Amino acid sequence: MKVLYAASEAIPFMKTGGLADVVGSLPGYFAKEECEVRVILPKYLCMEKKFLENMHFLCHFYVDLNWRRQYVGVFEATYRGITYYLIDNEYYFAGDQPYNHLHEDVEKFAYFSKAVLQALPYLDYAPEIIHCHDWQTGLVPVFLKTCFGSDPYYAGIKTVFTIHNMKFQGRWNLGAVMDITGLPEQIFNSQELESYGEANYLKGGLVYSDMITTVSENYAHDITTPEGGEGLDGLMYARRDSLFGITNGIDYEEFNPKKDPYLTHHFTKETVTEGKKDNKKVLQKKYGLPEKADTFLLGMVSRMTDQKGFDLVAYVLEQMLAHDDIQFVVLGTGEERYQEMLTYFMNRYPKKMHVHIGYSEEEAHEIYAACDGFLMPSLFEPCGLSQLMAMRYGTLPIVRETGGLKETVIPYNQYTHQGTGFSFANYDALEMLGCIHYAMEIFRDKKEWRHLMTQAMERDSSWEHSAGEYLRLYKRLLGEE
Ligand code: ADP
Ligand code: GLC
Repeated sequence: MKVLYAASEAIPFMKTGGLADVVGSLPGYFAKEECEVRVILPKYLCMEKKFLENMHFLCHFYVDLNWRRQYVGVFEATYRGITYYLIDNEYYFAGDQPYNHLHEDVEKFAYFSKAVLQALPYLDYAPEIIHCHDWQTGLVPVFLKTCFGSDPYYAGIKTVFTIHNMKFQGRWNLGAVMDITGLPEQIFNSQELESYGEANYLKGGLVYSDMITTVSENYAHDITTPEGGEGLDGLMYARRDSLFGITNGIDYEEFNPKKDPYLTHHFTKETVTEGKKDNKKVLQKKYGLPEKADTFLLGMVSRMTDQKGFDLVAYVLEQMLAHDDIQFVVLGTGEERYQEMLTYFMNRYPKKMHVHIGYSEEEAHEIYAACDGFLMPSLFEPCGLSQLMAMRYGTLPIVRETGGLKETVIPYNQYTHQGTGFSFANYDALEMLGCIHYAMEIFRDKKEWRHLMTQAMERDSSWEHSAGEYLRLYKRLLGEE
């Protein structure tokens, strides 16, 4: 079976969030003899030099987008045994980050989606399935069925569309998108590409693909409701028979406390107490915090957006830091208002809190390894990978019970002693604070805490199981099961 993943980011080439982790790690979990997955991405000029220099040119051609005729170069690279194709066009993929102004984005991802399809005959790889990820590739199934449908080369290709985040839809003015894409005017109707007066790429992907998946079972349900559907719940409900929730995993090689190259002190579940102590000391020193082993070290690694619950943090941060025995470390970038709020509190309480506004793979790993608790109070969360990474390092997640967070974190039960973290139900800052204080109280009981860390580390968050589920869906789609 041959499956091509089309996406706007994948580790190690480009990453802004969990999408990149999924697209860059899941392909490695299929047995190649049974299912070979290759990946196609944009070749952004802002990719690290070492990646740009390690790809080779395959071919070039031109793609027509209405009156535009645009150059497409195709490059190839191999990473950990997986073949990657990269679409080159220095006009569209310039800039210091992969996404910039939305208007440009809708044009560049229309270009990318059509280029992906047109590139296929040039590759020595004819996929039976194209698996698209998020709105940036929403037009792949649309172009496939409207522009390429009658060509026998494309006729049998099936499409799967995975929603990583329903909030991002790639919406733009109808007339502009008609002009940008050159798609037939008739499909810009409320049953197909139009949504609330705008053209909507995500909707296109959801209407035109053969099968839809999302990244947790809870979220698969949430998006069929008005609360979670971001305006597309009616469509999701109508397509519920083709909608499947498959919970994300993480790369167990990349995130491995036993041999993580970013850590100075490695540990296993048998040595977690000592390992954590050593890593905590290193991080406290690095961040200029008092090197106290018994202080509860709470961490966050996150995009700074309202999705991630920073409004709750802002509301109670002063109270949170008033506690004698807490230190708080945050790594992330995003909305200015959150960056400023966190920086303000860091300057005010430099011995209690450290914030790094920026992106750092190394520090993310250090935080996952060193902290006692990991805060993720999301407003909504399709799956969430950070809580899985935290548990892998014996760091107990403190999460709001929503989407994938509710599905993957077992809240501590003081009677059965079971649990892999702590959770609270409502999007309420005081409830979150109460939950943090509760975790801090349990933290004082060293034996109980150790038991919880062990259970968190024992949780199986590897891709094995989910890859099996994707394979079953692919087979079903091709009529093999
Ligand atoms: P989302 O995809 O919504 O951002 P996830 O929890 O699924 O949330 O994935 C986030 C991923 O991005 C994790 O791998 C996390 O470690 C990483 N990450 C987020 N912010 C940063 C940052 N500032 N530096 C390094 N890694 C980050
Ligand atoms: C999105 C979601 C996140 C999910 C990730 C990978 O960015 O916000 O919850 O884990 O995609 O699927």
